[in-house]
Amino acid sequence: MEHKKSDEIAAFEAEKAVYSDFKVHVFSSSSELLERLHEKWSLVKKQPYPAMYSSVYGGIILDPAIMVIPIDDHMVHRGHGVFDTSIIYDGYLYELDVHLDRFLRSASKAKISSPFPRSTLRSILIQMTAVSKCKKGTLRFWLSAGPGNFLLSPAGCPTSAFYAVVIDDDFSQCKEGVKVITSTIPMKSPLFATTKNVNYLPNVLSVMEAEEKGAFASIWVDNEGYIAEGPNVNVAFITQDKELILPSFDKILSGCTALRLLQLAPKLVEQGQLKSVKIADLTVQEAKRAAEMTYVGSTLPLLPIVMWDEQSIGDGKVGELTMALSDLLWEDMVAGDGKQRVPVPYEKLAT
Ligand SMILES: Cc1ncc(COP(=O)(O)O)c(C=O)c1O
Repeated sequence: MEHKKSDEIAAFEAEKAVYSDFKVHVFSSSSELLERLHEKWSLVKKQPYPAMYSSVYGGIILDPAIMVIPIDDHMVHRGHGVFDTSIIYDGYLYELDVHLDRFLRSASKAKISSPFPRSTLRSILIQMTAVSKCKKGTLRFWLSAGPGNFLLSPAGCPTSAFYAVVIDDDFSQCKEGVKVITSTIPMKSPLFATTKNVNYLPNVLSVMEAEEKGAFASIWVDNEGYIAEGPNVNVAFITQDKELILPSFDKILSGCTALRLLQLAPKLVEQGQLKSVKIADLTVQEAKRAAEMTYVGSTLPLLPIVMWDEQSIGDGKVGELTMALSDLLWEDMVAGDGKQRVPVPYEKLAT
């Protein structure tokens, strides 16, 4: 008798726990869900993602409500995916091929084989950008071990997956200087730092740490005390005797912008503004004595750093040589005549 009563109490408590807070809605159909998602998106003034490609769908999607990826995709629950980002400027894809090459190198290190050959990936990206009608923004793309199950091994995933999205973005050349800190978040080991994979937790925590301390972002220093990189950017220095120095790429991501900077900077040597351009490892002490310091990354292209750990860099003002280098990169992106700018055939693919 006593026993029965306690069972009844337990059942009553369980029911109360289910209904006391709030009742979870169960969607009766996918059309009901889609209606809800469309309602949400109808409140957004300008759709920020004009197009997405998914190899799971097998095509380009223009409806933001269904720009989603499966929860059993190993990129979602295991971080088994790689990505890259290319800039769309004035109707051109800047350095698309350099980003695609790095993307495929990352995929190979992460043991992900692409569902398509390189030429098809490239064609999908160009067609999707054209269909998006976006002339200024970013193109982000991912290769994933693919959907299949919730295990570690991708052996049960029938095929890898390719996703891409166009993001409308209004960026401009950075001209103001920022403050940075040395990160206390451990940096990734070389294999993971040189592979552009989706595990960005250290990078996220590093930026959050900087923001909590009133800085813009951070600088990673490796175990041996040498300068590495920022959380999603490389870093460069101009010494007191006008040498441009970038840390070597053995333990960090080889930034496409940093590599282009190394190709373009010799122009300033020819003009006598810089003494030399080189790749070399710098200690924190050496780096803090630099006359100028800058972040280097795709959307910036250079972001001058004027203060580091509460210490001014040079005279604490945006460096002239940094801006001259930034102009070289910006010009290359907006008006360069080389193969860096891939034209997007918007007219041909107008929908
Ligand atoms: C960790 C890290 N370092 C450096 C960079 C700069 O690379 P990029 O110049 O190709 O944008 C990025 C951005 O991709 C990054 O995520």
